[in-house]
Amino acid sequence: TNTTVEVTVHADRPGAIIHPEIYGQFAEQLGHGIYGGIWVGEHSATPNIRGYRKDVVEALKAIKVPVVRWPGGCFADQYDWRDGIGPRDKRPVRMNASWGGEDDNRFGTHEFMDFAELIGAKTYLSINVGTGTPREMSQWIEYITADVHSSLAQERRANGRDKPWKLDYVGIGNEMWGCGGSMRPQFYADVYRQYATFVHAPEHAPIVRIASGANADDLGWTDTAMSMAGSQIDAISLHNYTIPTGDWKHKGSATEFGEAEWMSTLQGALRMDELIARHSAVMDKYDPKKRVGLAVDEWGNWTDQDPSAGDAALYQQNSLRDALSAAITLDIFQAHADRVRMANIAQMVNVLQAMILTDQSKMVLTPTYYVFDMYKVFQGATYLPVNVQAPAYRFGNVSVPGVHATAGRDATGIVHVALVNLDPHHADTVHLMLPGIKGSDVHGHVLTAPEINAINTFDHPDRVKPAAFGGAIFKQGVVTAVLPPKSVVVLDIH
Ligand code: AHR
Repeated sequence: TNTTVEVTVHADRPGAIIHPEIYGQFAEQLGHGIYGGIWVGEHSATPNIRGYRKDVVEALKAIKVPVVRWPGGCFADQYDWRDGIGPRDKRPVRMNASWGGEDDNRFGTHEFMDFAELIGAKTYLSINVGTGTPREMSQWIEYITADVHSSLAQERRANGRDKPWKLDYVGIGNEMWGCGGSMRPQFYADVYRQYATFVHAPEHAPIVRIASGANADDLGWTDTAMSMAGSQIDAISLHNYTIPTGDWKHKGSATEFGEAEWMSTLQGALRMDELIARHSAVMDKYDPKKRVGLAVDEWGNWTDQDPSAGDAALYQQNSLRDALSAAITLDIFQAHADRVRMANIAQMVNVLQAMILTDQSKMVLTPTYYVFDMYKVFQGATYLPVNVQAPAYRFGNVSVPGVHATAGRDATGIVHVALVNLDPHHADTVHLMLPGIKGSDVHGHVLTAPEINAINTFDHPDRVKPAAFGGAIFKQGVVTAVLPPKSVVVLDIH
């Protein structure tokens, strides 16, 4: 039996611009995230463009990745940028103290900045504050951005890059309350002020300075950072992961789970709304005009590592459950478009909730990838407030709203509406009211699969893939759409 749901999209009350950067990615030097996943080197048997995997570059271009954060994560606070410049065969090999194994630094500053240029993304460097110095940071920034003939700029030229690159964002440390240096917020706020002073950007190319922010619901961290350093902060970060079981020691499998963990994972995704609202309210105390952005620069589902992972640290499969979690989370970022200016899913390739999985020359696109593909139409659109009246979806004693939604109007005037049916058993008949929208035509795509834990594999890459959606009709100003159980639908209304 279908459930009836009412969704109203208020085109008559447009909100903020949806910053494309909320569709950002995070890529850390760990496991097979960079090595094997992005970088294979020019001499690899895997088809490549100057060392970058061709298949991965094309897939990332197709979803319009707006920004990439690198080199960590925890890795960043032990990273010496000088290790990653100059001839590749002369670079030092370092232990990866955060994630195990060794890093021979074949992928460094040039490789990262050129990669971002290749896929058309903005650049976000996470600065070493935990074991570095302000001088190392300012020299790194000069090396990358200086258009003069200083020794650092000349060194960059000697290493093969004449023009400066555009550096868009710097993160002043990562998780400074934990792996970044176990700092207390008062101490970090002063350290932040010190570093922020030495971020010298070329006049025509400003760099956004992002403070290392809170873990999940640590509102005190945000409060202290904003009160002590707010005037020097352009954005502050927030990290939040969903652990299906809620237990970091046994996080749960990415593929072998039942409805209880389906529910707990979607509930985890829904929690992002409350987290953003509460951190934003703290920020409002010091910044009522919302000058300072919130950058959710690590988010996603974190499960147990895949049993087949080997040395691919934090490698996990990705199922329909990840697709729905991603869609819900992106909906929430859009609803907070006035405060959330960037977000970076953890992580881009072969790590945690990845877009892409690779094995030697093989590549597969995950269900999460396809959500980013379907949602790319929202990048830069104007947010339109959405009201959903849906019966709850219940499992055991847990209940959540059965349907989640978001909407935006793009620059050409097309209104895009995303609808997520969280219930794995029942279809929904959605009546979509559109006050202020004069459309007559509706098209769409749907992402679903027969099982809640359906995955794409190298042998079966198309099990969870968007298909044209024939379930919507436009009649007398109302769109009626039938959402299959456990699905994500994105409609384009002309
Ligand atoms: O994304 C994996 C790790 O999670 C990051 O390195 C760290 O910042 C966070 O704890």
